[in-house]
Amino acid sequence: MADQSFKQKGFVLWLTGLSGAGKSTIAEIVEGELRSRGLNIEILDGDIVRKELTRDLGFSKEDREENIKRVTFVAKLLSRNQVACICSFISPYREMRDRIRRETTNFIEVFVDASLESVSERDVKGLYKKALSGEIPNFTGISAPYEVPDMPDLHILTDEQTPLQSATQILEYLEDVGLAPYSKLF
Ligand SMILES: Nc1ncnc2c1ncn2[C@@H]1O[C@H](COP(=O)(O)OP(=O)(O)OP(=O)(O)O)[C@@H](O)[C@H]1O
Ligand SMILES: [Mg+2]
Repeated sequence: MADQSFKQKGFVLWLTGLSGAGKSTIAEIVEGELRSRGLNIEILDGDIVRKELTRDLGFSKEDREENIKRVTFVAKLLSRNQVACICSFISPYREMRDRIRRETTNFIEVFVDASLESVSERDVKGLYKKALSGEIPNFTGISAPYEVPDMPDLHILTDEQTPLQSATQILEYLEDVGLAPYSKLF
């Protein structure tokens, strides 16, 4: 049951990491849990945003920056109006992530960390195979850089955890900083 006394604040839970690291998987679990605790929440996910909002963009550094710039604009509007916002984007450049922190309310950088070895083994979308054969250019971790976060608010090691454990780590953090109500069993 939702905690009726909890006053929701807006925030931006920003999941960054390699393709296949687990951003979307974790985002969905956290979203479901927070919704059931009564929060107003939206997910902005890389794959959906690229279909709906930034279809015109590719994967050059400039286009990746523009992609994140537009998402930041949306996250800014949501977070300043008390909406919880979960954003899952590879977002490989440190500078772009620092900009989001400056422009949004209660920005939380979550480094969804998995080794290149394990993401290419998972190869959920079959993209690593194509990137390694050169079929896809500018692929993060293979032919484009990923700048590891220096000081993320949270560091999640998905090689060593289940998705549920990773989501729980995030939920506990949000509870600790007062951005999510504790779940009530009664
Ligand atoms: N601890 C974990 N957290 C999240 N996913 C995990 C974990 N352990 C294993 N996985 C698996 O890793 C895969 C992650 O795929 P997912 O689509 O979530 O990645 P992504 O980071 O969103 O990638 P992309 O940037 O391409 O959208 C899933 O198949 C998931 O089941
Ligand atoms: Mg994803």
